Amino acid sequence: MRISDYANPRQVVLITCRQGEKDNIITLAWHMPLSFEPMIYGIALGFTRYSYEMIKKSGVYVVNFMSLDYEREVLYIGKHSGSEYDKFKETSLESEEAAMIDCPVIKQASAFLECQVKEEIKTGDHALFAGEVMRAEKREDADRIFQISGSNFSTLK
Ligand SMILES: Cc1cc2nc3c(=O)[nH]c(=O)nc-3n(C[C@H](O)[C@H](O)[C@H](O)COP(=O)(O)O)c2cc1C
Repeated sequence: MRISDYANPRQVVLITCRQGEKDNIITLAWHMPLSFEPMIYGIALGFTRYSYEMIKKSGVYVVNFMSLDYEREVLYIGKHSGSEYDKFKETSLESEEAAMIDCPVIKQASAFLECQVKEEIKTGDHALFAGEVMRAEKREDADRIFQISGSNFSTLK
């Protein structure tokens, strides 16, 4: 079994990032709150991810909480790399500007956190970015999306 099989089911989020003219989205199951005060939210990215290089250079990211309605988009974004695809164009997801950082937010997100990287901790084949939350907003109560295993998603009722 892989380490993720022990940890699942886990809520899945979409991370948005920007570097120069390029905007990108990555699907993430490895993410967590790390501090109340200051408010810090962590995300773990594999070194091979295009988004890893983007966030390392820009120092910012947005954590977008999505509902189960976006299962198809979450899977597509988690199976295609921004190095080859424009994932905003290829999905129905629309972007709007974050208020506190230079980064896109997903318009369809039910809640989101605008984060500025404070620390990068290299683990094994992933890096944990600890990002201070510069702005947090909840837009609606939604049936949030969880990864059960592989491409199998569900929500909590
Ligand atoms: C349900 C799901 C969860 C995922 N969780 C993570 C994760 O926590 N960390 C990670 O680095 N990649 C994760 N991935 C893989 C990335 O989303 C995938 O490699 C993506 O294509 C990388 O995009 P990028 O190259 O544009 O950054 C996950 C994929 C799926 C489908």
